[in-house]
Amino acid sequence: MRLADVGTRDAQRFATSIEELDRVLGGGLVIGSVVLLGGEPGIGKSTLVLQALAATRTADRRALLVTGEESAAQVRTRADRLGRACGHVEVLAETRLEAVVGALESDPPAVCAIDSVQTLWSEDIDGTPGSVTQVRAAAAELVRLAKRTGTALVVVGQVTKEGSLAGPRLLEHLVDCVLTFEGDATGSYRVLRATKNRFGSTNETGILEMTEQGLRSVDDPSALFLGDLAGRVGACAFPAIEGSRVLVVEIQALVSPSHAESPRRQAVGVDRARLAQIVAVLARHGGIRLGDHDIFVSVAGGARALDPAADLAIALAIAGAHKRTPVDPPAAVFGELDLTGAVRAVGHFERRAHAVSGAGIDVAIGPESNGAPSVPAQWGAVVNIAGALETAFPR
Ligand SMILES: Nc1ncnc2c1ncn2[C@@H]1O[C@H](COP(=O)(O)OP(=O)(O)O)[C@@H](O)[C@H]1O
Ligand SMILES: [Mg+2]
Repeated sequence: MRLADVGTRDAQRFATSIEELDRVLGGGLVIGSVVLLGGEPGIGKSTLVLQALAATRTADRRALLVTGEESAAQVRTRADRLGRACGHVEVLAETRLEAVVGALESDPPAVCAIDSVQTLWSEDIDGTPGSVTQVRAAAAELVRLAKRTGTALVVVGQVTKEGSLAGPRLLEHLVDCVLTFEGDATGSYRVLRATKNRFGSTNETGILEMTEQGLRSVDDPSALFLGDLAGRVGACAFPAIEGSRVLVVEIQALVSPSHAESPRRQAVGVDRARLAQIVAVLARHGGIRLGDHDIFVSVAGGARALDPAADLAIALAIAGAHKRTPVDPPAAVFGELDLTGAVRAVGHFERRAHAVSGAGIDVAIGPESNGAPSVPAQWGAVVNIAGALETAFPR
């Protein structure tokens, strides 16, 4: 068949109207596709799928929840808490693969969620329920089924605290889209990311808040990740590109004398290898030698700053922590640091600058080679790490 003659019904989607979920999916659930939703217990997977089913269901579009982890009565309790729309979602409490496939085949729903794939098992397959062979066979069967019936399928996969995925990792190559749901289960904010997506970008991040009435999309995520920087030592704002939006995040550093033979270098939300390089550049080109200090760098609130544009913000956070001096007035910082100590231009310059200004920060420090941004009011153009240190910590 010529490609020009191939139909494109595959691109049809059901928007879930949960804004942050749709953003990460690339617009909604795609007909006949399979989404794997992974996350630790208690993070909110069952809540998210029930809300998504309730939101996609209409008078002529059925939504089915297959529950293996919880009884129908337990799901009902959650549905009552989440709101009236959930009452229209159909529920099937079943763990036998053949029975689930039979139900989905005889009367295919438009959307279906399986919670969780680990609970499905078949007598015809070796291994105990939840074992690698069982989970893989069940997932493969579900993928074939979705393609055949056109049902948009969401499959929940449990991830254990130890990070070993007796599920999701194993299934990544089978499904169309892999979503990971992260965050501190004891806090209320959750981050949703796509690590694979055949129908959208993998750069998008969804930010949700767990409330009494379920998960709610967060409108202004920068406010979540960015604290008040005034007078704080070892903290810098950084405008991180997250798909179609810019999140202004807070990079924090702590530096303390080390008693260990090899001092600690801890990175949370930033790249470890880049951290090592930044510390070396600070020593060689910035005159800040920390060979006998432990260094901890982290991005507040579980956000990430993995792109090289974060280098300069990481460097200034570390330098400020070491000098015990806040950047004053508080500044957003961006720029890539190369091995010669030069500060290189970054992509998305104007977008970053606008996000900084939108977050209420009046000062930005960044690469001279990017030119001057239209906002914020005060622009500190720098060409190298020594100049950046002068600008951020004038004597
Ligand atoms: N009454 C409630 N009010 C607010 N949040 C609740 C309530 N009950 C449960 N939760 C939240 O829901 C979470 C469990 O969500 P759930 O969807 O069952 O997670 P998972 O399926 O990933 O294990 C709990 O950790 C808690 O944060
Ligand atoms: Mg659950």
